[in-house]
Amino acid sequence: MDIMESTSQSDRAAQKKPEGMDSDLSKLGNNLVTKLHVLMRISQIYDSKNVALHQFIQETLQTINLLIKREGVFSLKIIKDDFFLNEQRLRYSVEGFTSFKYLLTQWKKRLIGEVIFKGQVDEGILKDFVYTLINLEEGCEKNAALFQEQLKSRHITSIEVNPLEDVEGKEEAFTLQKEDQREVAKKVFFETIGTIKQVITHIKSRQYADVRKLKRLAQKAVHLVIEDESILLGMTTIKNYDEYTFNHSVNVSIYSLAMGKRMGFSKRTLTELGVTALVHDLGKSKIPREILNKPASLDEEEWGVMKKHPLMGVETILNLKQLGEINPRMVIGIFDHHIKSDLSGYPKLFRKKEVSLFGRIVQIADSYDAMTTPRIYKKNPYTPEQALAIMLRERNVHFDPLLLKIFISLVGIYPIGSLVILNTRELGIVYKPSHDPRWLDRPTVILVDRDEKGEVKKEVVDLTKTDGAGHYQRSIVKTLDPYQYHIDIAKYFL
Ligand SMILES: [Fe+2]
Ligand SMILES: [Fe+2]
Repeated sequence: MDIMESTSQSDRAAQKKPEGMDSDLSKLGNNLVTKLHVLMRISQIYDSKNVALHQFIQETLQTINLLIKREGVFSLKIIKDDFFLNEQRLRYSVEGFTSFKYLLTQWKKRLIGEVIFKGQVDEGILKDFVYTLINLEEGCEKNAALFQEQLKSRHITSIEVNPLEDVEGKEEAFTLQKEDQREVAKKVFFETIGTIKQVITHIKSRQYADVRKLKRLAQKAVHLVIEDESILLGMTTIKNYDEYTFNHSVNVSIYSLAMGKRMGFSKRTLTELGVTALVHDLGKSKIPREILNKPASLDEEEWGVMKKHPLMGVETILNLKQLGEINPRMVIGIFDHHIKSDLSGYPKLFRKKEVSLFGRIVQIADSYDAMTTPRIYKKNPYTPEQALAIMLRERNVHFDPLLLKIFISLVGIYPIGSLVILNTRELGIVYKPSHDPRWLDRPTVILVDRDEKGEVKKEVVDLTKTDGAGHYQRSIVKTLDPYQYHIDIAKYFL
């Protein structure tokens, strides 16, 4: 997830080494988190004598004992918002996100920060451990001590439990409930990326692709956008290089939905627009990897192939079994998304036609996301401000000027995720644009402050706030390039 990793392939290979992440250990760690997540969930449904539990216990035991064999002793510990397995930070995959989040939340709520496995564990011990854990009272400071006593009374010496260490984390545990909407948004976001990935993989291997699932997720996104678009818009700052195609589709969908909402679309139309945006680049699944991931610019022939992706997307969609979920408006939207207002884009048309509304919306969202995302052939992408400036220059020719206006009012003069310097010499990240058009230049920002360890601190300030004399407390001086400041913007939105 780290933006700084999103550089060229050689850079990535070089960066992996210093971090020293042992990939086997990381795999086992991810596996452990997933298994513990499932086990905690299951044990909240069934009592400890239930037979269904047996299989999950066995699977978890296997992972734990493998780790014991390898490491001797191992600790799974929470530091801030991450899990560390024997001092190594575990990085979660898109698929693993739900498990990480669940375990992190459940442990934090109970103020448990670390579990150390000191020796082989059997079914009885693991059951005792899980049921004691889920029965702890939320927010109780003594939990770790109580847990430890409980284990002792049962003569269990192979597991040790320690309390959550950092105070910030504790405070956070109590505000977790308030953050529900953000949590739902994250879940929808990552689930959608996962589903898009699945759809594309299935299409590539000519298997059944579940478009209905995409539609359900788009419906959820529509609800979220209608309630508070800024949460989902914040997630578009996650520019995951490794998962570019999937991540990009979801971002384009979020921007498109937010525009559709401003235009007063019905929920039904919004859902159709959301799905169209999610599958707009589906045709790329038919383009050879060497062309898609080429680190240099494409030659003429390769460009020719690349330009076929809108048409290939249409073909793919029309061949889907669940064609009932798709209507002509969506198909045309996919076909149109690179045509451009003056029809100078692709595919080339034999006859003049107007670019469809869905096509025009997706095109704006698509260009903006593509420009602001690092790619293999462009290490440092444009800042949000630069991207908007380029798009404005090309309005009338490439974009629908009215829609572009809506888009800019949506992302603000300072789009969400922009790094800015304030007149107080503080650095800030634009968090939420002001909804009052008078204050387009006064968004809410997160002040970026890093302690000696380089850990981030969050303080959210509203730039419309004035002091006693009526002067603004803080104002934006200009935007900065986050890549030059080595700031991982996405971190602030998760
Ligand atoms: Fe495209
Ligand atoms: Fe695209």
